[in-house]
Order: sequence, then structure tokens, then C-alpha cells
Amino acid sequence: MDSSSLLPKSNAKWTERQRRLLTEIANDFTVSTEKLETLTQQFVHQMRLGLSTHDPQELAMIPTFVTGRPDGHERGSYLALDLGGTNLRVCLITLKGNHQLETHQKAYTVSDYLQQADVAELMDFIAASIKEFIYSEHISSKIVEHPSGSDTLELGFTFSFPVSQTAIDAGTLLRWTKGFDCPGAVGNDIVMLLQLALDRNDVNVHVAALINDTVGTALAHSYSHSNTFVGAIFGTGTNGAYLEDTRNIKTMTLDSNDMFINTEWGNFDKGKNCLPVTIFDNKLDRESINPSFQIFEKMISGMYLGEITRNVLLHLIDHRALFDGASSTQLNMHSAFEAKFMSVIEADDSESLNRTARVLERYLDIHLSTQTDREIVKLVCQLVGTRAARLSAMATAALIRQGLEAGSLRNQGYPLKTSLHSEESVDQNGNGDASRPPLHVAIDGSVFEHYPHFEERMYDALVEVLGKHAKDVVKLGIARDGSGVGAALAALIATKSVTNSR
Ligand code: BGC
Repeated sequence: MDSSSLLPKSNAKWTERQRRLLTEIANDFTVSTEKLETLTQQFVHQMRLGLSTHDPQELAMIPTFVTGRPDGHERGSYLALDLGGTNLRVCLITLKGNHQLETHQKAYTVSDYLQQADVAELMDFIAASIKEFIYSEHISSKIVEHPSGSDTLELGFTFSFPVSQTAIDAGTLLRWTKGFDCPGAVGNDIVMLLQLALDRNDVNVHVAALINDTVGTALAHSYSHSNTFVGAIFGTGTNGAYLEDTRNIKTMTLDSNDMFINTEWGNFDKGKNCLPVTIFDNKLDRESINPSFQIFEKMISGMYLGEITRNVLLHLIDHRALFDGASSTQLNMHSAFEAKFMSVIEADDSESLNRTARVLERYLDIHLSTQTDREIVKLVCQLVGTRAARLSAMATAALIRQGLEAGSLRNQGYPLKTSLHSEESVDQNGNGDASRPPLHVAIDGSVFEHYPHFEERMYDALVEVLGKHAKDVVKLGIARDGSGVGAALAALIATKSVTNSR
């Protein structure tokens, strides 16, 4: 991608200084095709390292104990719990078979206080919310089938933080992300902490499964799209999981053929060795709650995109290249510029950028922007947003490349490039196998769903890394509410395997 194509024609009313600064910034934020390729190779290398050792690696590559995928015929009623940000969702999912399901759900707000409170307090809040949901929604009358045969409700818990799993219903928290920092959780078993809180609060619920939201998203999508290979989140945070051949998981011996691996890709390139990290990213990282962690997440996800943009805008203001050198109290505040403003600005196709002017006035207290100011603000959003989409595609492509070169997609004849130097995988006639079913990538998250052009920018980069057939073979699809439905499916998988082994 050529960043200069985003800069205005030389007859535009930009000063020399504006043009010079913006050219520098555009260069810093541009991820070329060659860079995408280098990053993909490095990513695959890190995946393999993470799969081969117990020593902590930048990509944790966590075995999830979720083997196999649902096929849409599963039945039963399960509770699902989804905690990954400021909202806690409690759901009752009724799987009806034939790819049909029904959901009842209620959201509860996890206050700023609770996000930093002792973990026992957080878990008591969760238990109380489940209790309230069961009573207020008359859940017992809606159950069509009690999976365990007793009147205990089985629950799947989507917990969207890095957890080292030891079984489908056990796992210890490695670290908090996304602004959470509750003492007493890191190093402890999340299922046990929740089960204790449920028992303490007399809630007759059994925690049957613990999963990451990426795995939930993949499972939920599988219920309606067979051949779902990747589950990814591009929202407040980011992460991806994929189906790995268990022979590649050197850290354990397993009976099954395939297992979902939670890559925890937000921590890719922890040492900042290959990502195109700018001074604006470094500033954000330094001021964050978890400096030096989740570097990749901080370049991609909704929690951070606005802050990177704000850092760039302040730099331009300080160089008198924007708003005549004047900021506002609002724009000077940490996190004041949100990713949702970028969405509005990027979607603003009006000639005088009216909607951009409105965002600047209403939310940032900047009342006197010129046309050039607004063009610059839009350009900065485009640069930050495009980089995020291209890096998101790179990580997705790396998971697919690992599957094609060494994992569960090997020998399946997909017409995709597996590395820069290899020819595309083609059959004897020089074509890819057109009869192959598409490879589904299940995606949830506000950035993918709402950020303008994110999906098409991802597809462009996928083609650059995986070759021209990528657009036909790889299907990026929204899996809304993957966390809820996926948790229920994981609870089903867990209870069925317990019943089967009895
Ligand atoms: C967490 C992941 C999660 C992702 C998306 C990241 O901050 O570390 O576990 O999957 O956010 O919610």
C-alpha cells in the first residue's frame, strides 16, 4: 500500500510543514506488502515456539481442551456467562438442533470500582447477577432439557482474558488486560473462584466449561458454518484462536486429532522487534496500565485506536500544523478521543467534512477548525485505522498459513500462498481445488463490525499475504454473540464428555 496516495494533491492548501509532517507520519503508519510478509513469517515462527515449550513465550498458544466443533445438531438448555469488558452478560441458550437456537439474556455493568476490586468481590457480583437473572427471567420455566439430569444448571463461562487452561473446566489467570486489575486472581483457578462464589451465594449452578471469547466465537459460528477454522475478536481487545493438529502441540500428549489453541496474539512482538511501532504507540504503552504487554493489541483494538490518534493530533498541534497550534482542555485529556469518533470521521464523505467538524465541536471542544484541519484529522484516522486492519489481517493470515503448512489444513489443496517464495498451492492443472469448502473466520467485535472499511482493508491485506485466491477461499464472517452461544456449546461439550466417560 502506498501511503502517499492518501495525501492530498500538491495544489491543496497545505503548508510545506503540514505536508512534511504528514508524509513522515504516513510513512510511519504504512505497513507495506513486504512488511506484512515479514511480520507473518515472524508470527508463524512465534506460534511454533509457543506450541513447543512450557516456558512463557510472547504468544502463549494455550491449549483450550476444546476438541472438535459442533455440527448444528446439538440440543439442550445451558447458562452462559460472558465477561470480557465493562459488561457482564448472563444468558440462557436453548440449542434446538437443526442449526437453530434461542437466547434469553441480560447485561449487567461491571463498575470501574469492581474492575479493580478484590477478585472475591467481583465473583460475588457475578454470582448475584446470575441469581437475579434466574429469578427475574423465570429461567426454570424456560428449560427444555436439564443436561445433567439433576436440577443443577450447567454453565459455560466465556472469560476473555489470558488463562492457562489445564482442563476444559479449569484454568489459572496469567494476567489481566483491558483495564482490569483485581487482586487475588492472577495465578488462581478462575472456575474455582466462580464456583466458590456461587456456592457462597446459594446459586444452584455448576461451572462446566471455561473458554476464551475467541473459542466461543469459533464454536458459535461452527453451529451454522462448518469448516470454521479461526475465531477472532477485533473489539475493545483483540485475539485469535484456531484449530491445531494436536501432534504440533509439543507440551502435552493428547488423544484427539485437533484442538482449538488460544494464541493470545495481543502480546505478539512483546519486545517491539518487528512491529512498526511509532513514537505515538510508545507513548500510549508507557502511559497504559500494563506497559510492555499487549503491544500488538495496543496497535489494533478499539480500546487504544482513539488514543493513538489523539497522540498524533497533539504532535501536529505542537508543531503548529493543526488547529493553528491550539488544543482544547478536552483534547488534552487522556483517552478523550474515542475509536467511535474515528468511525464517524472515516465515514464522513461530505465535501466540507461537516460531520468531522461536529465531532470536533461536540466532543472535543474544538470550534474553529478549517477545511485543512479537518482533512488532516481524517487522514490521521485513516492511517491509524488502515494500519489496524492490515495488522489484523496479518495475524489471521498467519493462523491460516500455520494450518496450511503444518497443521490441520495441510494437504487439503487450498489455492493459497504459504510463503513469499512458494508458488500458490495448486493442483496439476494449475488451479486451486475449487471444490474445497471455504475457510470460515468467525469474527466478533465492534471494530470489525462498525469501523468503516475495516473488512475490505483486511481482505486487501489477506490477498497480499495469501495470494489472489484468498478473497474466494477465506470468508470473514460476523459471529455476533459468539461468546454467549459458544459458552453454551462448550458447556455441552464438557457435560457430554463427562457423561460419556461414566
Ligand atoms: C485478552 C484475550 C481476549 C481479547 C478479546 C484480550 O485483551 O487477553 O483473552 O480474547 O482481549 O476480548
